Amino acid sequence: MCGIVGYVGQKQTMEVLLGGLKRQEYRGYDSAGVAVITDGGSLESAKKSGKLQVLVDHLTAHPLTAGHTGIGHTRWATHGAPVDVNAHPHLADGGKLAMIHNGIIENFAEIKQEMLEAGHEFLSETDTEVGAVLLGHLVAQTGDFRTAFAQAVNRFEGAFTVLAIHQDSPDLILAARHNSPLVIGFGDGENFLGSDVAAFVEYTHHAAAVGQDQMVAITPEGVTVTDFAGKAVEVERFEIEWDASASDKGGWPSFMAKEITENPDAVANTVRGRVTETAVDIPELATLGADTIKNTQRIILIACGTASYAGQVAAYAIEQWARIPVEVQLSHEFRYRDPVITPQTLVVSISQSGETMDTLMAVRYAMEKGAKTVSICNTQGATIPRESDAIVYTHAGPEVAVASTKAFVAQITALYLLGLQFAQVRGTLSEKEIARNISELQSLPGKIEQVLLVGPEIRQLAKWMTESPAVLFLGRHVGFPIALEGALKLKELAYIHAEGFAAGELKHGPIALIDHGQPVFVVVPSPRGSAEIHSKVVSNIQEIRARGARVIAIAEQGDVAVLPYADEVIRIPLADPFFEPILAVVPLQIFAMELADAKGLDVDQPRNLAKSVTVE
Ligand code: M6R
Repeated sequence: MCGIVGYVGQKQTMEVLLGGLKRQEYRGYDSAGVAVITDGGSLESAKKSGKLQVLVDHLTAHPLTAGHTGIGHTRWATHGAPVDVNAHPHLADGGKLAMIHNGIIENFAEIKQEMLEAGHEFLSETDTEVGAVLLGHLVAQTGDFRTAFAQAVNRFEGAFTVLAIHQDSPDLILAARHNSPLVIGFGDGENFLGSDVAAFVEYTHHAAAVGQDQMVAITPEGVTVTDFAGKAVEVERFEIEWDASASDKGGWPSFMAKEITENPDAVANTVRGRVTETAVDIPELATLGADTIKNTQRIILIACGTASYAGQVAAYAIEQWARIPVEVQLSHEFRYRDPVITPQTLVVSISQSGETMDTLMAVRYAMEKGAKTVSICNTQGATIPRESDAIVYTHAGPEVAVASTKAFVAQITALYLLGLQFAQVRGTLSEKEIARNISELQSLPGKIEQVLLVGPEIRQLAKWMTESPAVLFLGRHVGFPIALEGALKLKELAYIHAEGFAAGELKHGPIALIDHGQPVFVVVPSPRGSAEIHSKVVSNIQEIRARGARVIAIAEQGDVAVLPYADEVIRIPLADPFFEPILAVVPLQIFAMELADAKGLDVDQPRNLAKSVTVE
């Protein structure tokens, strides 16, 4: 939550800062601000509540003086409402110092009391201003920005990435991180900082992730990284694999529209290089150690939100293929339930951003308890993969829309590859069965392309439903998490009450919700899989139809059993039952987007949300 950018160099600083904020706006969009050290040597800043465009318009009308050192921030409010005064940067030391912050300084109350007693005043309700005032106080005491910064950072508790500039040190940005992301971009005669590489990918592909409890100093000439005690540390550099254009809308009306059409590539790129015709080889799993795959007795998938539904889908397949008990836990519940973890437990985290605090904490907890950990992640250099024993990156490309779409299908794909590799090593699937599943995976991108053609049909459906107060979603087996995901997409994008249910639960309560005209999406399993499951879902459709539901079935081509009972049928191509979820979710993604769009809502930046939830 919150996007941060820092720049020192000869470019138009404001252009770099605003571009970096634009590409990170998905991290938080309730206010934004910038501060620069001008070429005249003074510090100037501007900040505005509302989306970044409000700040841009303000700066167009009231430009800051040009400078070559600057910091920028886009906010998701934690302490204090999203109003101008609470936006970052926060100034201190008589306006000579500016600080921006992502996270929560948990001991802010104690520091604030001290600062009040020392005679300082506060303008905002934020924890960040408390940090800035402490830093300013220490600069005045020590007479040295770097020393003061190190002292301040060592006082902060909680989760923080902070960046600070001081007009008496004009070519310098100081930064520190604890439980919150920070990456460095290396340029030629210039350097960058960001919450993620999107902040500077337009200018450099050379990056490094800053480790836990490390401080960074950037100047145009160089970058130094130390621990909180000031001891120099080496950072691991990496090359950013995608271009700035990948995080542009590229002519699409929204990032979400673009990202849904990238579903096929997300699957294809995640599979690429990890399979032959008859075998799966994820080289990255080697870091788990030779016998881990053979010795694993239990797999726990941990994630939040959409990523947890990807885990729920994959749990069915991995358990069946590898014959290992697999359970899915919400990250924020996992570590508070004192789970039984042994060295034979494999904890697989699933996170698009790789920065979700709940998931990061759950991974750390699992490691402390002796589990091996694998990170399924879409963001290079993020904290969760860096701290895990093994990383399987999903190659969905940057996902900018706050609602996750292509990352979801890529997560299921990566988990399926992992499940197949476990089955292969443990001998629980034959070579023929592995080959058949690989071929299913490889055929998915083409099949998703076919599903995408239903877009106009769904748009029409969505237009009819703008007044619906609630929409329900039903599914069984792997279709159940798809029902949950369909409901989540609709809630977060269209602000419509939506619930997903296991179809088998209907008669245990939810059927009471069915009334005349109630729209219900039903994910219908293939009759070519378990005939029993298929006929049970058809019976469920009859039961809700008899009570007045308006049924929209998502069913495979040629499934005629649903026709007499469904008001609408959305067709998906034939696939093995385990692979159907990756097809069935696409119409639900499109539906949520189209309904939100028909209601005139911002599909990329829904209210109250942020893409990367970096606070607990
Ligand atoms: O970055 P992560 O995958 O860890 O994020 C997990 C959830 O916060 C995320 O999937 C969230 O539910 C999305 N808004 C769903 O569209």
